[in-house]
Amino acid sequence: MSIIGQGIDRTDGFLKVTGGALYSAEHPIDKLSHAVMVLSTIPSGTISSIDTAAASAMPGVLAVLTPQNAPRLPKQEKPPPGAPAGAKLSLLQDNVVHYNGQPIAVVVAESLEQARDAARHLAVRYAATPAVLDFRKAKQNLRKPPSQPEKPTDSSRGNLAGGMSRAAQRMDAVYTTPVENHNPMEPHATIAVWEGDQLTLHDSTQYVGGARKAAAKTFGIAPDKVRVHCPFVGGGFGSKGTPWSHVMLAAMASKVVARPVKLVVERQQMFGPVGARPMTEQHLRLGAARDGKLTAVQHDSISHTAFLDDFLEPCALVSRSLYNAESARTTHRYASMHLGVPTYMRAPGEASGSFALESALDELAYKLKMDPVQLRLQNYAETDPEKNLPYSSKSLRECYRVAAERFGWARRTAEPRSMREGKTLVGWGMATATYPTNRQKSKASAALHADGSVVVRSGTHDLGTGTYTVMTQIAADALGVPVTKVRFELGDTAMPEAPVSGGSMTVASVGPAVHAAATALREKLAAMAAADQRSPLKGSAAADLVAENGWLSVRGAPERREAMAALVARNGGKPVEADSESAPGDEKKQYSMHAFGAVFVEVHVDPELGTIRVPRVVGAYGVGKLINKKTGHSQLLGGVVWGLGMGLMEKTEIDGRTGRALNANLADYHVPVNADIGEIDVSVVEENDPHVNPLGAKGIGEIGIVGVAAALANAVYHATGKRIRDLPITVDKLV
Ligand code: MOS
Repeated sequence: MSIIGQGIDRTDGFLKVTGGALYSAEHPIDKLSHAVMVLSTIPSGTISSIDTAAASAMPGVLAVLTPQNAPRLPKQEKPPPGAPAGAKLSLLQDNVVHYNGQPIAVVVAESLEQARDAARHLAVRYAATPAVLDFRKAKQNLRKPPSQPEKPTDSSRGNLAGGMSRAAQRMDAVYTTPVENHNPMEPHATIAVWEGDQLTLHDSTQYVGGARKAAAKTFGIAPDKVRVHCPFVGGGFGSKGTPWSHVMLAAMASKVVARPVKLVVERQQMFGPVGARPMTEQHLRLGAARDGKLTAVQHDSISHTAFLDDFLEPCALVSRSLYNAESARTTHRYASMHLGVPTYMRAPGEASGSFALESALDELAYKLKMDPVQLRLQNYAETDPEKNLPYSSKSLRECYRVAAERFGWARRTAEPRSMREGKTLVGWGMATATYPTNRQKSKASAALHADGSVVVRSGTHDLGTGTYTVMTQIAADALGVPVTKVRFELGDTAMPEAPVSGGSMTVASVGPAVHAAATALREKLAAMAAADQRSPLKGSAAADLVAENGWLSVRGAPERREAMAALVARNGGKPVEADSESAPGDEKKQYSMHAFGAVFVEVHVDPELGTIRVPRVVGAYGVGKLINKKTGHSQLLGGVVWGLGMGLMEKTEIDGRTGRALNANLADYHVPVNADIGEIDVSVVEENDPHVNPLGAKGIGEIGIVGVAAALANAVYHATGKRIRDLPITVDKLV
């Protein structure tokens, strides 16, 4: 039986539970000094002065960097429109304050305690200017974001006005989502080490190659002078996809003090200078015929952005193609505020956008007196209506069927407040999930060593997702060796180059490269054996050799065999190696590629207190080939858990006067804990997709969160008769 698909344990599990896995701040480095960032306390204006005398004189203090004395960096060209968030950093090059929480100084000391203490003794004087902190005010100056390749900012197909006027039922409502902040267990952290003109960054990142490029550009040095190392990431969720200011500030500080510098972003500092999901306001207008067929879909999305730099949450993309509507129009607009630059957060666009679209569809279903699943089936897109392309594969129908059946949807009574358990109101709601399937060029290498062990490398990342494990499986399968013989290494720019671990594309991008490298190694070994006079396999055709369990043997004559390791021994003990590169072709021109799913949620609402419990969630997903059932299911489960947090808890409360996050800690910024989570039943439907990539694996990192908040809001409506269009759904909105 193939090892692909099996739910083997994490190959890095032992290291993790024993503390042997070293995260970015944990690398033992000689002569390490400690830096802390000082953040602005006003949202807008300029720094008049920073008095550093007291701090500089404190014990252990090595340097205090401010805009007044920080080394001047090469002037950066303006980033191209649509450059990733974080292209513009706050590196103490000027005295302008764009938001509350912007890095304005760095204190370096012998110990963390000394650095923190000294940081409190900086005397900062500001000249404040009026700040835009009110979304309503920000909306008075909307801007149109630049179009991205293949993703125009606005879209229009069919006759929307005609579709609306012919509609038998219409839905028109505005949905809002708040600012949410990433809170991985491991905060951002960087250790910077200069050896001459060579910079090493031990950085918690989703993209070692991106951090390298950014550091090279920031300091005006060649990329090969920068090494970025990151063997473990304790969660990223998008916030570690691009390097933020602290990475470069650590490197700058290290240069100044001529010592290695560690800079860990404090939990409170996670709310401001390192990205957030922007707040959104989404206007949904739907028109449908009496039979439920959508005649018009209009989705106009406004998301907040910063004054320092722009980031777009592409909420309305989901409305372009999820349903086969006769006409569709979507727009995206920016509203600039004096807040930190927003960024990617798990399923950027789809997570917020599906809350609006899938809530609106539920509202329409009630108006039509139609079952919500039936309404979706009535508008099922057999081909991508926006791109006019067939899907590479689509099992959404099956996802609805499987999830509905496992949930027991048929037992639902449609009327709101019609289902109860004792006094408790019971609500059942559902939503569709979708996320595009992405892939980028990737490289890998594989080497067989004399002891029979195999080392496979690619400069990719494991965000806690299972990359180590699935790549080990892919390599073992392609090479024909036991998984226990394979060691997969990642997280280093010294390794073959891999793309950002974002957009749910690590397996789809790196997996084929690993597969190709292991296959090339197997073929190399077979050719060596066939050509080797001392091999029992001599003279056989390399193509006739099969690799299994670390042995090569002749097809049909298994007694003629040789251990792969023996070939290395005869190679003088020198490891036998192979490299590969794997890149997408033009398949995206021929097919629309998405993962799909259906998610069903049950809520129990206390009719007097308005408290909501979620005893169970059922999700079914079509994600192509699942490489590891265990880590894959965990990814989907994690996505669902986050979806519940998004639906019920998460909101960064921003003080309208100061622009400061009021709940910048894990006590006040609520995320689900075990006690909040009931049963989550996740299943993956069988799906063979020959088009997405050679492994047939679609991404699973993001789709799990998509649709959950809507399914929850729909369940809350079903339970209570109250439609909440503003996330999170908290008690105050229900009573
Ligand atoms: Mo993901 S939000 O693309 O890391």
